Amino acid sequence: MEKLEPFSFSKRFEGVPLIGSAFAGEHPGLIPLAFGFPYPDSFSIDELAESSVSALRTAGTEALQYSGGPGQKKVLEWIRERSRLRSIHVDTDHILITSGSNQGIDLAARTLTDPGDAVWVDAPVYFGALRAFYLAQTELTAFPVDDQGLRVDVVEEALIEAAAGKRAMPKFIYVLPNYHNPAGVTLSVERRKKLAELAYQYNFYIIEDDAYVELNFGGEFLPSIYSFGPERVIYMSTFSKIVAPGIRMAWVISDPEVLSRIKIVKTDGLTSVFVQEMISRFLEKVDFEAHLKPLVEGYRLRRDAMVNAIHEFFGDEVSFEKPEGGFFLWLTFPPETDTTKLLHEAVKAGVSFVDGKSFYLVDKPTNNLRLAFSFCDEKQIREAIQKLAEVYKKQKNAVC
Ligand SMILES: Cc1ncc(COP(=O)(O)O)c(C=O)c1O
Repeated sequence: MEKLEPFSFSKRFEGVPLIGSAFAGEHPGLIPLAFGFPYPDSFSIDELAESSVSALRTAGTEALQYSGGPGQKKVLEWIRERSRLRSIHVDTDHILITSGSNQGIDLAARTLTDPGDAVWVDAPVYFGALRAFYLAQTELTAFPVDDQGLRVDVVEEALIEAAAGKRAMPKFIYVLPNYHNPAGVTLSVERRKKLAELAYQYNFYIIEDDAYVELNFGGEFLPSIYSFGPERVIYMSTFSKIVAPGIRMAWVISDPEVLSRIKIVKTDGLTSVFVQEMISRFLEKVDFEAHLKPLVEGYRLRRDAMVNAIHEFFGDEVSFEKPEGGFFLWLTFPPETDTTKLLHEAVKAGVSFVDGKSFYLVDKPTNNLRLAFSFCDEKQIREAIQKLAEVYKKQKNAVC
């Protein structure tokens, strides 16, 4: 066989960071605070098994066909009803099932933009979305987040500049309103409303990624951005955090005209009709509120364990906003801290986290990190934070 020449792969990959699964297989014994996986006991295995068998036994010939069975309609109806809690009142023709929210983000981005178009995101930003926006070859600009979520006032100033021709007007702004990944914060109602108003005024879209909305630890449910601007918002949420990520089922809510374009971009044709059949039975079988309650409680206990351990082992060395839901806690260390070095030593000591730099485009601060409290139990969380604090103090003393 002749010697192979190097192959020239698509230039779209250049500079696109791969963060996601890269850490998943770290060494055994490591306490993983890196990735936002649901804790294993959160999966309703028995109910899902029964629902799978029932889907096959009672609708197998349809559920296994390209066209699918009645479950598709039932899932849409469930989403329509559930969405009312977010002040979203739409018919099922506004809803599209996708293979995870990550697919929804990707589809929406490619539907709204051409290569070179401007897209605005928050900083820090969910890196799964960043990957989709890089691959869509958009030009990204990031805007700061504070304890109330995205700084909509800073966004407005930039929009005024864009309207004056001083910078490109964004095609869309990507926003994570509830229990931000990674920052843990929630966008205030005033900012939601203002952002929707700006979308109408300056004619851009908002991609509202509401992956964690159901995991609310007791605060009030805020109205979605969609409810303030349905013609300019593409809303999405997912079954990943409330049933299981492995089923790869999520949804997009948008104007039917936008959805018709998204469906063209969605080249996989259909999201697993068998899984939809199974989930429709699962949702019929369980009392959803009763299913959700222990799940949310499980995450709340883990959040509390992490917050308490941070107070106990770090004292006031670090600062953070206590997340009112979701999976993540965002730690800020003194400015001289280098969390990349810290990660290196922490993994050796048996704890992982995600370095804060992974969530920035440019001007990457060196002193942040993201901890996931979603996967480990409370005992492991305490142990992990204790180890992390030891590593941090050792590193700090070595610098002094
Ligand atoms: C903010 C955010 N959006 C979307 C997703 C993707 O969810 P899905 O499993 O539905 O693709 C995640 C998962 O971690 C996430 O954190």
